[in-house]
Amino acid sequence: MKTTLDLLKMKKETDRITMITAYDYPAAKQAEAAGIDMILVGDSLGNVVLGYDSTVQVKLEDMIHHGKAVRRGAPNTFVVVDMPFMSYHVSLEESLKNAAALFQETNAQALKIEGGSKENITLIKRLQDAGIPIVAHLGLTPQTFNVLGGYKVQGRDKETAKQLIEDAKAVASAGAIALVLECVPLELAEVITNEIDIPTIGIGAGVHCDGQVLVYHDVMQYGVDRLPKFVKTYADFNGAGVEAITNYVNDVKGGTFPSEEYSFLLKDRSILE
Ligand code: KIV
Repeated sequence: MKTTLDLLKMKKETDRITMITAYDYPAAKQAEAAGIDMILVGDSLGNVVLGYDSTVQVKLEDMIHHGKAVRRGAPNTFVVVDMPFMSYHVSLEESLKNAAALFQETNAQALKIEGGSKENITLIKRLQDAGIPIVAHLGLTPQTFNVLGGYKVQGRDKETAKQLIEDAKAVASAGAIALVLECVPLELAEVITNEIDIPTIGIGAGVHCDGQVLVYHDVMQYGVDRLPKFVKTYADFNGAGVEAITNYVNDVKGGTFPSEEYSFLLKDRSILE
């Protein structure tokens, strides 16, 4: 299993870091078998697994439930679990308590929080001191999409680009072990990647990041209808699933399933007489 030191070394050696989300045991098993460096139990599970229209409805219990399943499926992979909406904004004390519960219950290697506010910087320091590594998340931060005015590329003008660079430096100085950059122009992601010592992991942030993360259900085209511009798909689970279930329905309706091959036969039929 990778460690936080391995991730820093990978950045220094320009060995690109691979990360994918997973929310359950089978996807985690697949990711580990494929040799992924890191798994993110993202609160995107609200959208892609639970059918909510945002991550705002996701609760701490949901993250614990799915985080534990992923840990069981990928016992030897670096797992990061998202702290969900409002689980780290009410007070420092409550944030520390929620982080401790999520970290202990899921047995993850790190937690992830969105945003570079002063409060988050304090929280990153306190959790780092307590032994809970934090991955920061800047750019498009889906938990605050209502404030951002939607799911938009961030840092397109001088002022917001400057702010993102400052936030990136602040989370890195506070002790974050990595930084997810979501939906920022690739030129800005390149500057941030060069300015900080911790690995950047991009999603819609171009090729210059130290690593990349994508959502499992986007990669597999599994249950999702619309894909963001930055997603490259590698399978078609939607098509394969509908085709498989249609074939099953037709076999049952046509009486061709279950054939004898899928049935148990008596050795001596006369016992029924
Ligand atoms: O929840 C999630 O899947 C994420 C990724 C988009 C980085 O935070």
